[in-house]
Amino acid sequence: MTQWHPLSWRDVPIKQGVTYPDQEVLDATLARLGQLPPLVTSWEVERLKSQLAEAQEGRRFVLQGGDCAETLDDCQPQLISAKMKILLQMSLVLVHSTMKPIVRIGRMAGQYAKPRSQAWEVRQTADGEVKLPNYFGDLFNRSDFTPESRAFDPTLMLTGYQHASMTLNFVRSLAHAGFADLHHPEQWDLDFFQNAVLSDELRDEYQRSSADLSRALRFMEAMGEVAVDDLSRVDFYTSHEGLNLHYESAQCHTVPRRQTPYLLTTHLPWIGERTRQLDHAHVEFFRGIANPVGVKVGPTATVEEVLGVVKALNPRDEPGKIVLITRQGVSNVKTTLQPLLEGVRKSGLRVLWIVDPMHGNTFKSGSGIKTRSFDDIQNEIAWTLDAHEAAGTILGGVHFEMTGEDVTECTGGAAGITEDDLSLNYATACDPRLNYRQALEMAFLLGRRMRADQARQ
Ligand code: PEP
Ligand code: CO
Repeated sequence: MTQWHPLSWRDVPIKQGVTYPDQEVLDATLARLGQLPPLVTSWEVERLKSQLAEAQEGRRFVLQGGDCAETLDDCQPQLISAKMKILLQMSLVLVHSTMKPIVRIGRMAGQYAKPRSQAWEVRQTADGEVKLPNYFGDLFNRSDFTPESRAFDPTLMLTGYQHASMTLNFVRSLAHAGFADLHHPEQWDLDFFQNAVLSDELRDEYQRSSADLSRALRFMEAMGEVAVDDLSRVDFYTSHEGLNLHYESAQCHTVPRRQTPYLLTTHLPWIGERTRQLDHAHVEFFRGIANPVGVKVGPTATVEEVLGVVKALNPRDEPGKIVLITRQGVSNVKTTLQPLLEGVRKSGLRVLWIVDPMHGNTFKSGSGIKTRSFDDIQNEIAWTLDAHEAAGTILGGVHFEMTGEDVTECTGGAAGITEDDLSLNYATACDPRLNYRQALEMAFLLGRRMRADQARQ
């Protein structure tokens, strides 16, 4: 291996790299970006790492979620608070069912860079066939299908950083000022469970759980102000795919009294399924930073590949450092996951396992819309839990693409979204997300399964 430094990634091959047209503008942008105050601090990063270390041992559970592609336009108070609200509500449901502290991590405040299967997009227009660079997220280019929008623009990194900062500023205020309505689950939008096509058993269970939650929270309120205060000040961490290494390396700094440099754009960066090659740029960059690092693990990943990346990123086997995010897909998970879990367990290396039940389950509806089914997502989680049980490993968290809005992007769930409904409010800039109701229902179902598992042990 080469000697690591924040730009050593430029000396090895890169996947999903883009070429900026104007080197001078790129250099000036990166110089400015590197001077700006950080979005996160090393103390917060270390605190998250210690919580992830506890999740590795089954003493906490991680809830990571947010948009597939956050956009600059998403930097609006209602959208940000709706995302926070659904994450907090889901986390309360999970606290209630697992009796474990939940680590809340948003895919937000910087989730602006998207890997793409195709570098180019071809569309039929009035002028005939037009071929333009694909949309790689608002950190690289813009989504409109015009040559100007699709050109890679380095100044978007500065704009993106500023929007991430404004988003995080609001998130921090909300997390510290408290969401009063969190204490009153009866006000949550649970009415749809009344009307949805559900078995009586499931409906009763939802009602019982939300009544229980209400009682538990009122009990804590009645205990006095300290409890209320603690409840309304929650920890909240950010994460994003560290795809744009120009952006990430500009905010990679050595901070006083610490040896290893920190990435200060986010608490938890992750390496995507398409960029986790051992000898390529993304692993090279992320092996040098102190932050915990996520790695997506798809169905073709071998034990050898995964162990290679884990050792490169965490040579000292530090606890809480590596988060393996499995996204096998519902049709593979029963056969592919257990051997991976066993291979990693046998190595003795410390990792936190999380399931992303979204990215292996994307398909096109009859009318050609990209979607995911609630049942597939739920089954991938259930079968992932089965695989962990069989392998003697611990599932320490879940990773969802979801939103606080009432969108129609994934089918199914108690709200009964069908393929015909998808075009009603299909708003994602990239992959289909669970909407508010589907996300909350998913948390109830996951909580029910985990509680049943705990009761058996
Ligand atoms: C994502 O999480 O948005 C993503 C692109 O995932 P993956 O790398 O697992 O395909
Ligand atoms: Co996605």
